[in-house]
Amino acid sequence: MIQLIKGFKDILPDESGYWRQVENLAAEIFACFGFVELRPPILERTGLFEKSIGQDTDIVEKEMYTFADRKGDLVTLRPEATASVVRAYIQHQLYAANPCRKLYTIGPMFRRERPQKGRYRQFHQINAEAFGVKEPYLDAQMILLVTTLFRRLGIDDVTVHLNSLGCRQCRPAYKQALHAFLEKHREILCADCRQRLDRNPLRVLDCKVEECRRAAAGAPAIAACLCPECEAHFAAVKTLLTDLHVDFQLDDRLVRGLDYYTRTTFEVQTGSLGAQNAIAGGGRYDELVKMLGGPDQPAVGFAVGCERLIELVRQSNRLTIETGVDLFIAALGSEIREKAFRWMSELQLFGFSVEMCFDERGLKSQMKQADRLGAAETLIIGESELSAGRAVLRNMRTQQQRELPLAGLVEQLKTLLTDPTTRKGIST
Ligand code: HAM
Repeated sequence: MIQLIKGFKDILPDESGYWRQVENLAAEIFACFGFVELRPPILERTGLFEKSIGQDTDIVEKEMYTFADRKGDLVTLRPEATASVVRAYIQHQLYAANPCRKLYTIGPMFRRERPQKGRYRQFHQINAEAFGVKEPYLDAQMILLVTTLFRRLGIDDVTVHLNSLGCRQCRPAYKQALHAFLEKHREILCADCRQRLDRNPLRVLDCKVEECRRAAAGAPAIAACLCPECEAHFAAVKTLLTDLHVDFQLDDRLVRGLDYYTRTTFEVQTGSLGAQNAIAGGGRYDELVKMLGGPDQPAVGFAVGCERLIELVRQSNRLTIETGVDLFIAALGSEIREKAFRWMSELQLFGFSVEMCFDERGLKSQMKQADRLGAAETLIIGESELSAGRAVLRNMRTQQQRELPLAGLVEQLKTLLTDPTTRKGIST
């Protein structure tokens, strides 16, 4: 049998209800914050990611699924969504009428990382990007938005880590200071970091190797190198978050693995998932739109990792997904089955979830099936009910039964099944 590819995963029916629920809630919250949906393609020209994420990042260096298409053009399965959203913002001049656009997108991303729990080669992100506002209000809004999503899903064990990476004016001086410091520890750095040191010393701060962590422990913090404008911007973000009662932890080691960030960067981490503890990450990228050929418009965004989020949702046990059907029709005998089939179809078209058994089976076996399907109600009808002109409706939870006349049966069921006490649904 051909098995699925390593690092890829099926989202099975017992999980897909959580996905739908999470995506629906995200769409609801996005609407409150003024975001509209954009659906960019999954395949883009390789150059888009090389230019935006950065040549010296792990993603571009070793994780992209890149191949030549039949004409020899290099294309890549998107490793993240920001680059595509920026491309679409520029290509379709989404800034023309009003540069302040807030766009969200949900979908699969691809990175050829070493698979482990919580780390996949195809994973999904809920991604948000807001363009056209340089003021710190929007940084605070983005963090409020993402924490609201976690709170509404009943996830408590999250910490917002916050940093500022400065701008084109102040970061070079910090890089220099960091380089000078790390140079003194070059011999204990891992082979990757020794290379990183010369190309982008900030990335050494992100390395998980114990020796590199130790070497970086005493490194200078960027906070001391921020220019007055970046410092004021960051101070305002912190004040706004405090006013909004959003807890955060300053983390001057948070550099993120993508090169486009300027000023505010953040990551939402949890203690409940083991090594893969980042469930969301983002920040400001005021220069990327211009760098990709668009107008000089600032931007800020984030992405939530859906697999990790859904694992937390399942662990927290606060979200119950009812998957049962509204009605099961237990019809006994072929003549009644034909009628039941018409009733079932009519009720389905009306909007109820209805199931029946299509082959000849006894009542006991059909009731078992109704149980397996989690039916809220079961309509029972055999020869004797038919000749008496009545059917029996049983509430599967209370086991209470009532008789319904066959005349106008479907109309009666439409009313009865709409009764919220008999309906099944999704509850938070
Ligand atoms: P990122 O930190 O690379 O940021 O990814 C965001 C989130 O995606 C991570 O916190 C994690 O939850 C999830 N994630 C990343 N890689 C994997 C993986 N291999 N398996 C499972 N989950 C994963 C970005 O992608 C930026 N584009 C975020 C952003 C948007 N910045 C500005 N706008």
